[in-house]
This record gives sequence, structure tokens and C-alpha cells, in this order.
Amino acid sequence: MDIEKLKRAAAARALDMVQPGMKLGLGTGSTAKHFVELLAERVQGGLSIVGVPTSEVTRLQAESLGVPLTTLEETPELDLTIDGADEIAPDLSVIKGGGGALLREKIVAAASARMIVIADVTKWVQVLGRFLLPVEVNVFGFAATRHAVEKAAAEMGCPGPALLRRTKEGHPFVTDGGHWILDAALERIPDPAALAARLCQIPGVVEHGLFIGLVTTAILADPATGIRVIDK
Ligand code: A5P
Repeated sequence: MDIEKLKRAAAARALDMVQPGMKLGLGTGSTAKHFVELLAERVQGGLSIVGVPTSEVTRLQAESLGVPLTTLEETPELDLTIDGADEIAPDLSVIKGGGGALLREKIVAAASARMIVIADVTKWVQVLGRFLLPVEVNVFGFAATRHAVEKAAAEMGCPGPALLRRTKEGHPFVTDGGHWILDAALERIPDPAALAARLCQIPGVVEHGLFIGLVTTAILADPATGIRVIDK
């Protein structure tokens, strides 16, 4: 299975859903990178769109390829966000943030009328939680916030350690917003919406990677069945 080919196929299908004049949220990660490349080809061919990037990495990529960009300050309401995902459940709740861009990704998704997630079939799961759940936290009070996150997860039926994400060099990974990330090993999240609500009550939690009720369509590239479009 050529995963990169599958990611690109999902991205290409999402591009079919982009209409001239649209205001787009541009996701982050290896699958979203394919989408931005394909979008740039269409822009070079005359497609008129404007995009809001969900990370500095995506901003640099889009700028280098000549994709016109705006900000949520200039354009607070978007038509469509296209982004990758780390896990997708049948009700289209997802885990995101493996690349560390979850905060901007969620702000951009929430500002969009629709959100499409694009992925290869390995991201499809029956129950969320096998992928480490990213939780972006303020640096101040880190140990207390970590303790509170672990306690909340245990209360929600998914106990597990929340580990500080580190770079290859061993330093804390710092997000575009200047925060740290906890990766919570929960294995199986029985009620993602309840956990999401509980995590939001913890003062040091800036954002978490559970996207509940935001995704309107998932595009899955599956070598067995081809492209599957799953609408909410
Ligand atoms: C970035 O923070 C993430 O939310 C990514 O969108 C997600 O991790 C999917 O990334 P890949 O497409 O690289 O798997």
C-alpha cells in the first residue's frame, strides 16, 4: 500500500469540492500538504480562491507556491476547511494534532461553514483513542495541568499517562502559539464528547485534539474500495 499515493488521491478528491471564489482553511500535516500542492496547481491555472493557513509550516508552503492567503482578522468566516486527521470515527469525530497544529486547526475549522478531512484508510477507527490524544497546555503550571488532564481522563473512563511531547533533540515541543503539548495514551475513549467538555474545564488546557461536531465530510482513500466520501 503506497500511503503517499492514497493521501494524494484523497486530497485530489477534496479539490473537486473547491469552487471559484471560495475562502478556504488550509490544514497542516502530510496529507494537507498534498492538498495545498494540488490547489496551487489549480491557482496557477486561474482558480480564484483565498486561504487561511492553520500553521506557520502551511503558511510557508502556500506562500512559496503562490496560493493567495488571508487571515481570520481580514476574513473571519470561511466556506470550507480541508485538513488531515490522525483518527476518524464513524460519526466523524476525529483526533487531530499529531503535527502540533491543533489550536489553529480548530480555530480555523470553527470559522468554516464546512470541514472536510482527508486521509488514507489507516486513519479510520471504530473508537477513538488508539492514537495519542494531543492536549495543548500553557507552560505555566505544567505539572498541575498534566495531573488534572490525567485525572479527567481517568474520570471519563480512559485512564492513561499524559506525556510531554519532545523534539528529537529532547527539548519540549513548542507550538506556533508558544505552548507545550501533552500526548495522552488513552487507548480507547468511550465518550469523546464528554472528555472534550471535561478537558475544556481545566484552566491550563489551551486546546485538545478532539474535534467533535466540526467535520462535515471525510474523504478516505482505501486501496480495497477506492475513494470513499462519507458525509455527516
Ligand atoms: C496537525 O497538527 C495534525 O492535526 C494533522 O492534520 C494530522 O496529524 C494528520 O497529519 P498527517 O496527514 O500527516 O497524517
